[in-house]
Amino acid sequence: MILGIETSCDETAAAVLAPSGAVLSNVVVSQDVHRLYRGVVPEIASREHVRKLAPAVKGALADAGASLDDVSAVAVTAGPGLVGSLLVGVTFAKSVALARGLPLLGVNHLEGHVLSPVLEAPDLAPPIVVLVASGGHTLLVHVRALEHLDVVGRTRDDAAGEAFDKVAVLLGLGYPGGAALERHAEGGDPRAFDLPRARLEPDALDFSFSGIKTAVRFLLERDPDAGEEPRSHDLAASFQAAMAGVLVEKTMRAAERFDVPAVALAGGVAANRSLRTALEAACAERRLRFVAPRLAYCGDNAAMIAFAGMHRLARGERSGMALDADPSLPLGSVANRAPRKRHARVSG
Ligand code: KG4
Ligand code: ZN
Repeated sequence: MILGIETSCDETAAAVLAPSGAVLSNVVVSQDVHRLYRGVVPEIASREHVRKLAPAVKGALADAGASLDDVSAVAVTAGPGLVGSLLVGVTFAKSVALARGLPLLGVNHLEGHVLSPVLEAPDLAPPIVVLVASGGHTLLVHVRALEHLDVVGRTRDDAAGEAFDKVAVLLGLGYPGGAALERHAEGGDPRAFDLPRARLEPDALDFSFSGIKTAVRFLLERDPDAGEEPRSHDLAASFQAAMAGVLVEKTMRAAERFDVPAVALAGGVAANRSLRTALEAACAERRLRFVAPRLAYCGDNAAMIAFAGMHRLARGERSGMALDADPSLPLGSVANRAPRKRHARVSG
């Protein structure tokens, strides 16, 4: 069995996978305390991970009906993320691996997100285009092989979830407000407000969401009534439609450009039903397979980290005790290509 650990941001997570890749347990402990500050406070996040990680690991082992004796490898998120938060997970994983003489695998958090659709649908074979949309990241990845991930598009400013969260705050819906904004948009008219959909250069696969968010802010300054009932429902629906429109358009452009038969969605924003539905419809129109993992695998979780670690282990990779947290660990084909030397620092 493989033990996965994830502490890159504000979720403390541990999971146990069977050697087949089946998820035996998937524990995610959220840190609600950050709501008070309308954003993740790094220092608090690290302290919460210190308090919650050991119970999360114990819980994951208990849910799997297993003990540490059954664990044959430990996979941990080494980056990107908040350095203090990452260090808690990396140090914990190193301690378990050292004490038990187990192989240790450092995993890129984004690699976990990118592979989560394959965790859900093991028959989903590359090539695939995966859209990862979360609170911290928005990227399009061309998965040529499970160990060959090419980032072909990324946000140049806000992440998609960040834009949802900022607009939710503007509409007084709290933080993090993506899910609340979706609920608020129900019954609203998505055509009521014409928001700009920054497209950057023609053909670009990069995203830019700050324009949409700023347009909402200016609109509310000019016309504060748009932020009040009942028009705020229309504004939320229009914003959501603009976001989904841009995300679907770029994802389809990438699918066509790289001529893939399948498209997948990952990251916390994948919880958004209007995005899922729009992407599913666009895929059906083009006869592309569409996979969106269950929500437990979309948000930050350790099952996806254990899964990515399992594939690295199968390729003969080991991280060794020199594994370090790297807050800006890049995801890229070069970094993913070769098996790592023992004691090499994980860099991608
Ligand atoms: O992947 P995730 O759990 O954490 C990271 O950011 O890594 O994603 C959380 C993000 C938040 O920005 C949250 O507002 C957004 O996903 N989100 C949603 C929805 N549910 C969560 N955004 C839009 N619609 C939703 N239903
Ligand atoms: Zn994430």
